[in-house]
Amino acid sequence: MTMRIRLVFALAALGTFPPGIARADGPDPRTVRTWKAKCSACHGEDGKGQTEQGKKMGIGDMSASAWQKDFTDAKITDAVAKGVKREKNGKHQEMDPFAGALKPDQVTALIGYIRTFTK
Ligand code: HEC
Repeated sequence: MTMRIRLVFALAALGTFPPGIARADGPDPRTVRTWKAKCSACHGEDGKGQTEQGKKMGIGDMSASAWQKDFTDAKITDAVAKGVKREKNGKHQEMDPFAGALKPDQVTALIGYIRTFTK
């Protein structure tokens, strides 16, 4: 066994993981942290959009199966990169673009996390 592999096993036994190794029991805590820091203020911790901002802007429910079906990975990637700025049903909907703020692998991880918001 190489040192590196032994280190990985030692960290796994302690419940901590080096970067790039996902936990088997649920979403990567770093992704959850990113969601809470950058997305949940509007979309809610559960993605249902029932926040003050969410209600004001008429944010959709990401846990709805129709939402999950409609928003393909490509659509989500595009929306996160470019942001949203539009009027819908008399409500001003605005989300900043995250193109410079999130790395592609962070966006991929967030999509995986959004896919866990199912009812
Ligand atoms: C300032 C509030 C705000 C924040 C912060 C925010 N969003 Fe949004 N987001 C919105 C609004 C408003 C919409 C448009 C309404 C809707 O689609 O529900 C939206 C829509 C979306 C959509 C659907 C795109 C579309 O065309 O409707 C996705 C996917 C999304 N957001 C992901 C994210 C992710 C991932 C983050 C964190 C990196 C995030 N949002 C942070 C406000 C926000």
